[in-house]
Amino acid sequence: MKNIFLLTVLALFGFLAWFGFSPAAQAQDKVVNIYSARHYESDKELFDLFEKQTGIKVNVVSAEAPELIERIKREGAATEADLFITVDGGVLHTAKTTGILQPIVSDTVLKNVPATLRDKDNAWVGLTTRARIIVYSKERVKPEQLSTYEDLAAPKWKGKVVTRPSSGLYDQSLLASLITLDGDETALNWVKGIVANFARPPKGNDRAQAKDIVAGLGDVALMNTYYIGQMLNSKDPEEVKAAENVGLFFPNQATTGTHINVSGVALTKEAKNKDNAIKLIEFLTDVQAQEQLSAGNYEFPTNPNAKKHPLLDSWGSFKTQQIDFSALGVNNPKAVQFFIEGGWK
Ligand SMILES: [Fe+2]
Repeated sequence: MKNIFLLTVLALFGFLAWFGFSPAAQAQDKVVNIYSARHYESDKELFDLFEKQTGIKVNVVSAEAPELIERIKREGAATEADLFITVDGGVLHTAKTTGILQPIVSDTVLKNVPATLRDKDNAWVGLTTRARIIVYSKERVKPEQLSTYEDLAAPKWKGKVVTRPSSGLYDQSLLASLITLDGDETALNWVKGIVANFARPPKGNDRAQAKDIVAGLGDVALMNTYYIGQMLNSKDPEEVKAAENVGLFFPNQATTGTHINVSGVALTKEAKNKDNAIKLIEFLTDVQAQEQLSAGNYEFPTNPNAKKHPLLDSWGSFKTQQIDFSALGVNNPKAVQFFIEGGWK
């Protein structure tokens, strides 16, 4: 009798577990946890939409990328992170080589994102791209005077270049790309040439460079494209004014192409909510979410079927740098060293 009772209880448990009614299974079915280094409102809106459409709750832990990679590594099998999201192809490659990721297996994702914007083993998949372009004073510079990143190190720009400090990843990755394309010596000399052309010591973020050009402190600077969109649509009149008064120049069109970087999503090795995580990657790379990312944060979609924000369309098409994004990670330590050696603080 006792045995029959026990068997009934076990069968009932089995039945409940099978249909996903046990608390553990339920938790697994309805949640996905992200460690994210992207800092944009557009992402949050998309996670809310995913939650509404699927009933899967999206939890986000926000921090800088190196900290998150270290944390996923340290937490090992106990990590809560199912997905890691960050900007910069070099950082995504570092996450891969750290051994904290697993390949994303999904035909939908392969269909959504071209191979050039994914890791070759699908350890990460691109969500958006952004170009690092030259912005210039419309008052003092004619676009015909501009050509390449390399040219900004020429003596004709002496006292005219404003930059942010070299601790910023955007310029580290640009330099890493120049190391790949131009070689070590040219890249180091480029740093020295830019330093010789400084209008002031490196200071501020991307937005601050445009503001300083409009304030007359310098004539040319490097900026990520999406900041132009953010500033043109900002509530801060000073940002709108700065963005309206700088010209945009897509460099290296006759040579190696304009430097683009990718932001992307990766599946952690120890993901406990893997099915939900893949569902979210499929959602984020789908046309609708891609168009929303471009509309909300002025980034280029990675899904070629997604429409760009009209502002991005107004810039026209441009030739992009053709290097493997992994090179940005591989060459990052050298880029950091060259900045120190060249005196770009
Ligand atoms: Fe940024």
